[in-house]
Amino acid sequence: MLRRMFCKLGATGLASMAISKQISALEKVAGAPAKKWAIIYGSKCGSTKEYAGFINEGLGGIAEVIDIEKTTPKTDDYDFFIIGGWRNGNDVMPQKIPSFVNDNKSVLNNKVKGMFVVLGNQGKPTLKPEMTTFLNNKLIIPSGAKDVAGKIFFGRYDPDCGKLGGSPYNNVNKDDGVAFGQKILSENQTGIFKSSSSMNRVADLYCSSGFFGRSSTVNYTIPVSGHVELSVCSIHGQKVATMVSQYQNAGFYKVPLRGKNLAPGHYICRLEVAGILKTISATITK
Ligand SMILES: Cc1cc2nc3c(=O)[nH]c(=O)nc-3n(C[C@H](O)[C@H](O)[C@H](O)COP(=O)(O)O)c2cc1C
Repeated sequence: MLRRMFCKLGATGLASMAISKQISALEKVAGAPAKKWAIIYGSKCGSTKEYAGFINEGLGGIAEVIDIEKTTPKTDDYDFFIIGGWRNGNDVMPQKIPSFVNDNKSVLNNKVKGMFVVLGNQGKPTLKPEMTTFLNNKLIIPSGAKDVAGKIFFGRYDPDCGKLGGSPYNNVNKDDGVAFGQKILSENQTGIFKSSSSMNRVADLYCSSGFFGRSSTVNYTIPVSGHVELSVCSIHGQKVATMVSQYQNAGFYKVPLRGKNLAPGHYICRLEVAGILKTISATITK
């Protein structure tokens, strides 16, 4: 049975890789505790519900996806929230979404990490500044959150579901939803992923393609000399393998990704040197 590891482009920008299972064992190390994520949404005709699922896919499936019409989540039960609804005129729907944000502002301002609105724009999937203003005014500003990712998604109109007028359209885009989840994840790596102080200096990290046994490596360039930590972590922030932990001079390096013991699933490759942090997301499938 062959396992392949694909690195997707993270927020910091990277390529892809593949590994086989012939590679040698990885060192197991302790890591940070997992954080609990919730995606709260409301949907009339299904597109917002679909986006909530896509976002969770981008998070690697770690979130609980909650329909606010059925359940009002307890804010104490979760560490991070992503919240979204759909647009009807000057309102985010269902009303329970903005109400949940307003009622829990004092807690959410630290916990909400992503907010989104699904809208139709009469079937034209073109971002307009007023849409961003709408999202800001209706959800992001009322949440009181400072570092929150926002996203406008284009939905669908099905006259059988809601009365809007005009022709039906469907602009639901799974890739956009998944990418938003990945972006939020990469911006909120917890515990060991906590960000560095000198992000203005750039390290490059990417994975070569092809089966690992023959050609796949993790490649990286460090702009300064220092102690280098190159590791593989679970999406919950637990380090599962250390690939490099030693002093290295500035330059380009290639390291075989030893992944024999990695179960299929989503992972993060993490490179740190002299306070510079670079991460990429990776998925191992059987
Ligand atoms: C009654 C109604 C009013 C809507 N008003 C707007 C609107 O003002 N602006 C807009 O861009 N889209 C509008 N839409 C489009 C919805 O935002 C879009 O269909 C969205 O995908 C619905 O989400 P849902 O599938 O989760 O219910 C409206 C749709 C309905 C049914």
